Amino acid sequence: MPIGIIGAGAIGQALAGRLVAAGERVVISNSRGPESLRGLAHAMGPGLRPATVAEAAVEDVVVLAVPWSRLREAIRSVDVSDWQERIVIDATNPLGPPAFQAVDLGGRSSSEVVADLVPGARLVKAFNTLPPGLLGAEPGTPAGRRVIFLSGNHAGANERVARLAERLGWAAVDLGPLAVGGRLQQVPGGPLSTLSLILERWPDRTL
Ligand SMILES: NC(=O)c1ccc[n+]([C@@H]2O[C@H](COP(=O)([O-])OP(=O)(O)OC[C@H]3O[C@@H](n4cnc5c(N)ncnc54)[C@H](OP(=O)(O)O)[C@@H]3O)[C@@H](O)[C@H]2O)c1
Repeated sequence: MPIGIIGAGAIGQALAGRLVAAGERVVISNSRGPESLRGLAHAMGPGLRPATVAEAAVEDVVVLAVPWSRLREAIRSVDVSDWQERIVIDATNPLGPPAFQAVDLGGRSSSEVVADLVPGARLVKAFNTLPPGLLGAEPGTPAGRRVIFLSGNHAGANERVARLAERLGWAAVDLGPLAVGGRLQQVPGGPLSTLSLILERWPDRTL
């Protein structure tokens, strides 16, 4: 099954590039429509199909990669009242205008807020802590694999996203439910949010 991506900016494109490089198929969308993504499709090849937001949103796994200020509008345009246990990967961060300031979430973690926008979905927060340049880079380094944090309230969905990330070459670290893990990886402020970690290969020696 292809992976749907809503948002084809820096993060959407970085993730799409890794997915396509690993042989996954991607259906990607933005606010301006598939025509505006022709250049991207040409650059990425047949693994990536430009589409409408509604087309991207019907896939089994859907990534949200739009600015926080446009998230409600993007999800509303899909017009889905029940996401029927599909996996929604939340790569967004609650930063708003005028200068990427932290948005007041009334004490909730941002992905708990996003989960309310996609009723019936199994939401997994992931791919939100690395800048596009690192997210789009080869996850394997001479020292080891770059770490991707994830969290979510549905263990099976966390597991599936972890397996996807591992298939793409990252080392997936599951931080648990959104109320705990979501806060750890939340940008801004989460203690893990600014870390770019490499999971070092275990040295070839006994303890
Ligand atoms: N940049 C980073 O360092 C970074 C790192 C981690 C996570 N994030 C998070 O990832 C998210 C995306 O960031 P970004 O840097 O990729 O942003 P970006 O480069 O500005 O791209 C935003 C994308 O969202 C699309 N979009 C906006 N409104 C939409 C709508 N109503 N329906 C469908 N698509 C819509 C835009 O399409 P159009 O151009 O057609 O409007 C564009 O493709 C944000 O929540 C951000 O906080 C960013």
